Amino acid sequence: MITIVVDGLFGDTGKGKITAYLALRDSPALCVRTGAPNAGHTVVYRGVQHVLRTLPSCFVGPSLLAVAPGALIRLDVFFAEAEKYGAARVKVDEGAGVIEQAHVERERADEYLMKAIGSTGQGVGAAMVDRVLRRLRLARDFPELSPYLADVPALIQELKGKGVVIEGTQGTFLSLYHGTYPYVTSRDTTASGIASEAGVGPKDVDEVVLVFKSFVTRVGGGPLPGELPPEEAERRGWIERGAVTGRPRRVAPFNLELAKRAVALNSPTQIAITKLDALYKDAAGKTRWEDLPQEARAWVDWLEDQLNKPITLIGTGPEPDQVVDLRRAKLGP
Ligand code: IMP
Ligand code: MG
Repeated sequence: MITIVVDGLFGDTGKGKITAYLALRDSPALCVRTGAPNAGHTVVYRGVQHVLRTLPSCFVGPSLLAVAPGALIRLDVFFAEAEKYGAARVKVDEGAGVIEQAHVERERADEYLMKAIGSTGQGVGAAMVDRVLRRLRLARDFPELSPYLADVPALIQELKGKGVVIEGTQGTFLSLYHGTYPYVTSRDTTASGIASEAGVGPKDVDEVVLVFKSFVTRVGGGPLPGELPPEEAERRGWIERGAVTGRPRRVAPFNLELAKRAVALNSPTQIAITKLDALYKDAAGKTRWEDLPQEARAWVDWLEDQLNKPITLIGTGPEPDQVVDLRRAKLGP
């Protein structure tokens, strides 16, 4: 079984938490992270906050932790995370791109990118330019990476019978092709792009879990329909900060039109909603549908009806196990 976890908004919907839940609950043999270290995936596990920028959020479970051929790494971030989360189970595809200091510097010197677009300045776009111009150095070019090198697409085929989770980064509307160009990141962040980066064909993917948060956030420039003034966001308790940059996130209420478009772009088989407790305080920490407040259940039912896809995972708090899991009820065993 191959599952893709994809963000349906502008990033920061809680993919990390949902991926961590799947790792704990389903114990997949392999998790693959796509994307690059401009993305920080936050997992709060047993009261400790982890921000992962290179390895998949599955570290809470037993899986192998792999980096996709289409991903980009920074050596310092990679080694720090490998050491922290168990080097013995970490793999990096030999074709993963390597971001070097020059890429970071080139990006940070680019005023348009840093000011107008609001880039995180992690060198990802500059490294992608070099990749396209065929001069980027890859993981296989760095001897210090040799203990970790793997053929990740082959590993996926080998282990798909035992469960493979592929974790996307950023979000649908930050996609280079399908997002709010030019206010986007440097890769296609939709489910198809995630599959392509990992090296798996669309027909091999069994489940696509599309993750929405119960409100919308975005960092950096670009349109955000229904954006709230910061005081109003604060009043609603929706203030968040960027995991990598620490910048305050811009905030808007949930947007059905965006959600419908994300469904069309990602062909999900399931939908996850995180932070239901930000809309309905009494939902906090609940793990059973029956225990959710009636208005919260009504909202989820309404959304499911509007999107015409099963809402199977509902986040009610930061810990991975603070989830209402309706997969069995809605999809069968
Ligand atoms: P870059 O990809 O770092 O150049 O940033 C381009 C745009 O994508 C900026 O608006 C960033 O704020 C946004 N962005 C990049 N990575 C993330 C992320 O992980 N979460 C949310 N926004 C991101
Ligand atoms: Mg994030």
